[in-house]
Amino acid sequence: MLSRVKIAVLVSGGGTNLQALIDAQNAGIIKSGEISLVISNNKNAYALTRAQNANIKTATVLKSECTDVAEFEDRIIQLLDSNGIEIIVLAGFMSILSANFTSRYKDRIINVHPSLIPSFCGKGFWGLKVHEAALAYGVKVSGATVHFVNEIPDGGKIIMQKAVEVLEGDTPQSLQKRIMEEAEWKILPLSCEKVASDIQRSKNNNL
Ligand code: GAR
Repeated sequence: MLSRVKIAVLVSGGGTNLQALIDAQNAGIIKSGEISLVISNNKNAYALTRAQNANIKTATVLKSECTDVAEFEDRIIQLLDSNGIEIIVLAGFMSILSANFTSRYKDRIINVHPSLIPSFCGKGFWGLKVHEAALAYGVKVSGATVHFVNEIPDGGKIIMQKAVEVLEGDTPQSLQKRIMEEAEWKILPLSCEKVASDIQRSKNNNL
């Protein structure tokens, strides 16, 4: 029996994507990995409650308690290392990680973004702003993307994408909700399992 790859989920807010990961783990969709740690950069994030309800270890790292970005990221790295984390999932984590951080975990950090990259992505495009921009442009199809994270915001290799129709009368909120339900909550767990099983297989081949 191969050991499960340890996953950390980084969050900032409501944590519906974290919930989708927890549910997928319980349903056996995520089976090669195990959510071992949830780190929030916001002490009031409801995602922390979701993790605690699922008996997952939590930690909070606040930028306001650090002298600079380097210290903020060092604290996160310490938590990841001391918990033996192999995959880092950014699930609504509203902080851009530096090249120093991302280069340390090449092909080990994955992010879910609420548009079809390369549209409506990069610096400044997060949360509802993404859907406001998609509606302002008038696209008829949007969706979600899961990708590896490198030093370019939303610029890493794409793992999975799913398109979602934009409907007449959509608001940023209604579009956000449909993209979460139809795309994000499906492709994030599937991508997580894919990356975890690839890592598991390559570890096994090196034995
Ligand atoms: C999600 O829609 C996620 O794709 C988006 O924030 C929301 C977090 O919701 N992330 C970004 O915009 C990152 N650029 P959640 O906390 O309920 O998962």
